[in-house]
Amino acid sequence: MYNKAQIQQFQTITKEFLQNPHDIDLETLRKVLKFHEYQYYVAAAPLISDYEYDVLYQQLVALEAASPLLITKDSPSQRVGNSLNNAFETVPHLVPMLSLENSYNAEDLIDFDRKAKEGAGVEMITYCVEPKFDGASISLIYENDLLVRACTRGDGIAGDDITQNIKQIKSIPLSIPLSHYGIQQLEIRGEVIMSKKAFHDFNERLKEKNIATLANPRNAAAGSLRMKDPKEVADRNLDAFIYNISFFNLLPGATLPELLTTHSGSLELLWNMGFRSPQKEKRIINGIDNVVEFCNSFELERDQLPYEIDGLVIKINDMALHEKLGMTSHHPRWAIAYKFKARQATTILESVEFQVGRTGAVTPVAKLQPVAIGGVTVSSISIHNEEYIREKDLRLGDTVLIERAGDVIPQIVQSIPALRKGTEKTIEFPTNCPVCDALLEKEEAEAVWRCNNPLCTAQIVERIIHFVSKDAMDIKSFGDANIRKFYELGLLKSVPDIYTLDFEKISTLEGFGKKSVENLITAIDASKKQPLYRLLYALGIRFVGETTAKTVASHLNHLLDLKDFSEEQLQSFDDVGVKVAKSIYHFFHEAQNIQLIQQLESLGLNLIQTEILSKDGSLSGLNFLFTGTLNKLKRSDAEGMAEAKGGHILSGVSSKLHYLIVGEDAGSKLEKAKKIGTIKIITEDEFIALVEGAN
Ligand code: IVH
Repeated sequence: MYNKAQIQQFQTITKEFLQNPHDIDLETLRKVLKFHEYQYYVAAAPLISDYEYDVLYQQLVALEAASPLLITKDSPSQRVGNSLNNAFETVPHLVPMLSLENSYNAEDLIDFDRKAKEGAGVEMITYCVEPKFDGASISLIYENDLLVRACTRGDGIAGDDITQNIKQIKSIPLSIPLSHYGIQQLEIRGEVIMSKKAFHDFNERLKEKNIATLANPRNAAAGSLRMKDPKEVADRNLDAFIYNISFFNLLPGATLPELLTTHSGSLELLWNMGFRSPQKEKRIINGIDNVVEFCNSFELERDQLPYEIDGLVIKINDMALHEKLGMTSHHPRWAIAYKFKARQATTILESVEFQVGRTGAVTPVAKLQPVAIGGVTVSSISIHNEEYIREKDLRLGDTVLIERAGDVIPQIVQSIPALRKGTEKTIEFPTNCPVCDALLEKEEAEAVWRCNNPLCTAQIVERIIHFVSKDAMDIKSFGDANIRKFYELGLLKSVPDIYTLDFEKISTLEGFGKKSVENLITAIDASKKQPLYRLLYALGIRFVGETTAKTVASHLNHLLDLKDFSEEQLQSFDDVGVKVAKSIYHFFHEAQNIQLIQQLESLGLNLIQTEILSKDGSLSGLNFLFTGTLNKLKRSDAEGMAEAKGGHILSGVSSKLHYLIVGEDAGSKLEKAKKIGTIKIITEDEFIALVEGAN
């Protein structure tokens, strides 16, 4: 949208200001910030560092605070809503928001093309094909250069006014120089989406808070637009693609911009105005046969995109033909959606099993009539907790819609009450542990019911499974099934029993030949020498993941040193917050846990810090975190490189972090790091250079 000369001009102003912060007028400063927002969010080609952007932004906030009367509605500072939006007003669209007709195969497309050619009276049609973004549709109205209203589709005639929330999406400009294009009023359509990465990060945050995760980015995006507090919307890293101009008024005496004579031209115009239109994604294709070919080949690329699409939209490129063909009451006759194979299916929720995990958390698991989605047969799905069951109003015997989006684990999207026969039953959550019958308990502010009986069989077995798992003690050739079998036979009743197993008896069991017993013995023996952090992780202390275990272990000489650390001392470690510190403290102040650890030591397990932590490596004292997809290195190798030089890997962004290494498609971690401001944000190449230069 900015030409070379403008880019240079803005860069000069930016550099001058940053080198020598001086009085700068508000208007120029706003323009400079808008320019950098565009470069970052739309053009994906930032020209300054986040820190530098922040310096400019803070100057704007300071100047506006000094002269509040000079604050304009489209100032970059006005994205952050400061008022709570309790209800959304319903407002009419300037032009009804129609839907699209769907097609699923070549015949449907050929049929559409035939009717369009007949209606238009032409021999061949040129199409503009673009992604069908899987999100929530919005309409935006700009008047006198300002974004004055944004609303949801609603019933197509009127939608909810969500202007405050939409203003949080940084790729949507708050103002555009409409008059420059001879336009007075403009209504445009687009789709608010959450990228796969932002969705993943969002679900991770929900998991941390013990809140049920969302099934797909579309639900996450649609739900985000209805948040009552615009600040929460800002946290969710939404994005928007603008794909249609639905209405515009020309200024008196102005002529139609040349670009508006084709749909692809209108995408270019939108792009020039500063919108993220599918300008780079679109294809102009002659004739329906070529469109069919493109649709078939593009479906294979679906999973490579950083956002979800559920198909392609095929639009006649010549706008004059749009006029000529018009629309039905439901959809335009100049466009059709080509839908990819569904990743959704309906099936019957037959029963619910309640599983007890190693921390005693009871998770309901829906048992489904097996159904194939995207090449995988799904027969059971976690339904998280009691609240989730109530919220989704799931009942035994219900027909449920399930979805497997990309590589996300399958989820129940909703039940379908319209298909109920009246024989469906409510799902009763047990009051007692389904395994040991102890009364279940729920902590305040938690959604999870727990069995707190430390002798509960299910927990013991799950603890053993965790202990031997790959990231913990990594005892290969054990396997969940064997652990359950040994437990049932009374051969393995607790973790220490792993090291005193009766192999003579085991070798008499079916399926245990000489070789497999030998392998098991070797693997168990080798595990005794595992580094300290693995043992700490293997103990299964709540909230102590692998990364935290590494941090904590690096402060110890012996595992039992942890008996002597106060909660405050623990909190001083990188990556250890209040919750984690409490949990570790509690664990090491329970007599039976200390006994267990002593027993493991007497069985020959290593409890001593033997890892040569290259404390004197040149990266020592520095904390690193990786986010997004790396191109050259495997994530685990990159972490190892930093650790080999004494660096330390954190599991989340906090003020203790020194370097965030940003790969492709980085999401909320990057945003959070920018907010903290002191963290150095570097690329994979910069990281490699840093490690190579560190001796
Ligand atoms: S054009 C009047 N283009 O798909 C035509 N729609 O199933 C307006 N969608 O309601 C729609 N990507 O929410 C159009 N590139 C695209 C789209 C797109 C996603 C959504 C939109 C629409 C729905 C129809």
